[in-house]
Amino acid sequence: MLSARLFRPLSQLPGKTLSFYDRENGMSHTLLFSSNSFAPISHRTYAGQVNPVGSKAVLITGCDSGFGFSLANHLHSQGFLVFAGCLLKHKGDSGVQKLDSLKSDRLRTVQLNVCKSEEVEEVVEIIRSSLKNPETGLWGLVNNAGISTFGEVEFTSMETYKEVAEVNLWGTVRMTKSFLPLIRRAKGRVVNISSMLGRMANPARSPYCITKFGVEAFSDCLRYEMQPLGVKVSVVEPGNFIAGTSLYSPERIQAIAKKMWDDLPEVVRKDYGKKYFDEKIAKMENYCNSGSTDTTPVIKAVTHALTANTPYTRYHPMDYYWWLRMQLMTHLPAAVSDKIYIH
Ligand SMILES: NC(=O)c1ccc[n+]([C@@H]2O[C@H](COP(=O)([O-])OP(=O)(O)OC[C@H]3O[C@@H](n4cnc5c(N)ncnc54)[C@H](OP(=O)(O)O)[C@@H]3O)[C@@H](O)[C@H]2O)c1
Repeated sequence: MLSARLFRPLSQLPGKTLSFYDRENGMSHTLLFSSNSFAPISHRTYAGQVNPVGSKAVLITGCDSGFGFSLANHLHSQGFLVFAGCLLKHKGDSGVQKLDSLKSDRLRTVQLNVCKSEEVEEVVEIIRSSLKNPETGLWGLVNNAGISTFGEVEFTSMETYKEVAEVNLWGTVRMTKSFLPLIRRAKGRVVNISSMLGRMANPARSPYCITKFGVEAFSDCLRYEMQPLGVKVSVVEPGNFIAGTSLYSPERIQAIAKKMWDDLPEVVRKDYGKKYFDEKIAKMENYCNSGSTDTTPVIKAVTHALTANTPYTRYHPMDYYWWLRMQLMTHLPAAVSDKIYIH
């Protein structure tokens, strides 16, 4: 198996060319990149695919909006039996209403706050009792629910650090631990939605980055442990799709900024000053307006992780700017990459 992979002909690897002009000798060159993670998702290999139709059940968290909402729709359209965990099902959120309006016996919304153990255990029971044969287990768990915030270390309260970790990190761990017995029975899949900020850090994003770095570490440990048991674990690391989801809105950024400034210790407020603070908020607003509105690459990555016989360990749905930045930040000496991207 390993030798087959090592000796896979180069021509079969997904490739990408980059042409550039060399000013010094006036010639143009073409570079060929061959890397699974660099390949556009439409070029991915489905050397073998599991058949989702009718039999395979998946649970996705955070389906009220964004990636989760689109995924629930997409996986349903692919033939999966979908359990869509929604934070605000009990409040009749519009995302929940839309999913329910499909009136399909293969798509069921369930009330699920990943921070509440009682709700998680209730969903375990719902799924166990609705599976035709619980011994065949649950095929897929997609840990997608997440929240985000920003702020420099000195601007961020301990309460905020804990709040974000409670959903993104401990929510992922809690869900995974509760559903592993069902996933193991199916020899199924765990797909964790991390972020490019789970691989490279960024100033003013520490409350988010530390949770996603945690998700990456957790996923690696889980992958090692589950491999002998036939369960496959993948991580999806989206780039900037903020414009296509509900993670941030201009109003949310302003609300976070106001609370942050109001709660700042006097010494921090004085030392940095309002001008500096406002500049940082404006930078964050810019970042949020720059993202991709088309979330298809993320949806395709998760689908591949759930359906390919040999899913990838990591998926990088992001544009080339962020892909290159992530590679350089994680491979170059920090003194060099800091100079290029941070300072
Ligand atoms: N958008 C991006 O650019 C981007 C980039 C990298 C990674 N990600 C990650 O992608 C995942 C999905 O985010 P998104 O961008 O699709 O944003 P989103 O539209 O805000 O979706 C996140 C979902 O999680 C739900 N949620 C929040 N707290 C929850 C809890 N305690 N229990 C259960 N569900 C909860 C939210 O519910 P409400 O809507 O009711 O609050 C929402 O439906 C997150 O893990 C995020 O970190 C996003």
